Amino acid sequence: MTADIKIGTLISGGGTNLQAIIDACKEGSISADIVFTGSDTPGVRGLERAQTADIDTFVVDYKQIIGSCRAKGIADADLPEDFNLAEIMEKQKLVDPSDEQAQFFLKSRAIAEKQLLDRILAYDMDLLVLAGFMRMFTPYFIDRINTVPGQYRIMNIHPALLPAFPGTDGYGDTFRYGCKVGGCTVHFIDYGEDTGPIIGQKAFEIADTDTLEDVKRKGLEKEWELYPACIQKFADR
Ligand code: GRF
Repeated sequence: MTADIKIGTLISGGGTNLQAIIDACKEGSISADIVFTGSDTPGVRGLERAQTADIDTFVVDYKQIIGSCRAKGIADADLPEDFNLAEIMEKQKLVDPSDEQAQFFLKSRAIAEKQLLDRILAYDMDLLVLAGFMRMFTPYFIDRINTVPGQYRIMNIHPALLPAFPGTDGYGDTFRYGCKVGGCTVHFIDYGEDTGPIIGQKAFEIADTDTLEDVKRKGLEKEWELYPACIQKFADR
């Protein structure tokens, strides 16, 4: 019998994947306990789902933080004390360093990430599970979760069969391309966008008569099976 692992969860929206994980924990079909649910957006349905399941919740309001950085500018004193722009710029694979917005992107995200870390690191946690969390992490955040070199501790679910269709609209991209098969992928987070090592995938057929809504529905049903199974794979490692 595997001992339960402690997982933290982050969401941005409806939280149907979170619900699937909550249910799997409750039924004992996976050896895991959820220790918190954090959101980048206040008032989302996923937070209610967590509260109903008696899980601690918190919000780090990315939109408000980034908006305030844009309105007021970012002074050095606003940045986390241990933030090193040159180091983060060198490691990251999210933005083109020559883009004039690159520094703003990395600095504003690191300010939000520091607030997230202050909440997350208060918990004893084995694995961080992104369940529909629609923000990318910079190396500032990733390095403070993945503290043992070579050991990934942040899992994500993506709505396409990676490496096809990275980005925010996997099912839409799959549908518009005219694919006959779609799917979802659970992978570890690394410094790139949707590029980390793949843990599991599930595929489904797309009929000629299927609409985008059909594709999304079929995909989500696969996600709800795949995510708990991949968490169990991590627990069994
Ligand atoms: C899922 O399709 C997931 O793959 C994507 O965002 C969606 C989140 O859905 N990253 P939910 O919030 O779990 O219902």
